[in-house]
Amino acid sequence: MPEFIVTPWEVRGKIDYDKLIRDFGVKQINRELLEKLREFSGDLHLFLRRNLFFAHRDLDKILNDYENGKEFFLYTGRGPSGHTHIGHLVPWIFTKWLQDVFNVDLYFQITDDEKYLVKRKNFDEIQGYVKDNLLDIIAVGFDPDKTYIIINTRHISYLYKIAVEIAKRITFSTAKAVFGFEDSSNIGIIFFPALQAAPCFLPCYLKGKKINCLIPAAIDQDPYWRGVAREIAIKLGMPKPAQIHSKFIPGLGKHGKMSSSEPETCIFTTDGEEDVKRKIWNAFTGGASTVKEQREKGGRPEICMVYQYLFYLFEEDDRKIEEIKQKCKNGEILCGECKEYLAKKVVRFLKEHQKRREKAKDKIEDYMIDKIKTAL
Ligand code: TRP
Repeated sequence: MPEFIVTPWEVRGKIDYDKLIRDFGVKQINRELLEKLREFSGDLHLFLRRNLFFAHRDLDKILNDYENGKEFFLYTGRGPSGHTHIGHLVPWIFTKWLQDVFNVDLYFQITDDEKYLVKRKNFDEIQGYVKDNLLDIIAVGFDPDKTYIIINTRHISYLYKIAVEIAKRITFSTAKAVFGFEDSSNIGIIFFPALQAAPCFLPCYLKGKKINCLIPAAIDQDPYWRGVAREIAIKLGMPKPAQIHSKFIPGLGKHGKMSSSEPETCIFTTDGEEDVKRKIWNAFTGGASTVKEQREKGGRPEICMVYQYLFYLFEEDDRKIEEIKQKCKNGEILCGECKEYLAKKVVRFLKEHQKRREKAKDKIEDYMIDKIKTAL
């Protein structure tokens, strides 16, 4: 048994991100690249400072081209298989930051087809999640004038021609090697990678010129880019799409990424104050079993979920996070204090998000790609 698995449909185990970098052949985001990003943005986003976005392909090239006056667009997406939790928001929040910094278009794909094909869920259930997830996506605050949401089953005419061009150039044996398809896989999911690759080139088709694409996403989506989109780009004479990859936000329990299938270890965007407090109260920490022992020996922030959440998501202040770490290690603060501190921050964040989520209800159509009337 491998120690961990990362594929577009399964993420499991304790992930060794250095090994992933080697296995997937992506590059680490180094100091030089961070400095380059800082030149454009002034401040670096927390997710970059804390190495949550940690790897890339051709991001350096995108930035050099941009400096030389060559535009790019952003592309990301969501598979609507359940309610949104805060782990899902991470790439979206970061994508919004990129949109603001570079003032660029964003194409956002909702793969309701994919989730129908791979999950044991009926079509209506998936459509329910589409509606629900859309509110969270819009609540993140993307610029409606520069954002185009594509719901695959509804807006297929924008993608189908490109997908067919892609599909013709990928053999079943390549798809099997990249995605692990088997004879028992349904034929819908075998075609699907062509649809997820299609938006990488959509603006080129719409505008009739070559435009660079940058994809912010969690690293489990890499096979689509490595195995399909970048290979096909060469054959289609299009720019190879670039990526910026994030790690996964762990669940509040001891193991694994945050997953809707374990609701008690997962903070949903619609959770109320009591839910948040209860879930955080039950989180796995690095604390000792008694107060006395913890005061003497200290806690272990490196394995503590409460600390991880503060580090990656909720404590912006570098001095403060360092202080929390030291005080925990010295036994000066106990888990209860940290849990309360985190819960307060999460509740505050969710209240704001939920207000914007409510307002999003009237704005959905402003974001849909069919505001572009050009036929392909
Ligand atoms: N397959 C992705 C998921 O299951 C959804 C998706 C489509 C996506 N296009 C994307 C994610 C581009 C990131 C970037 O969530």
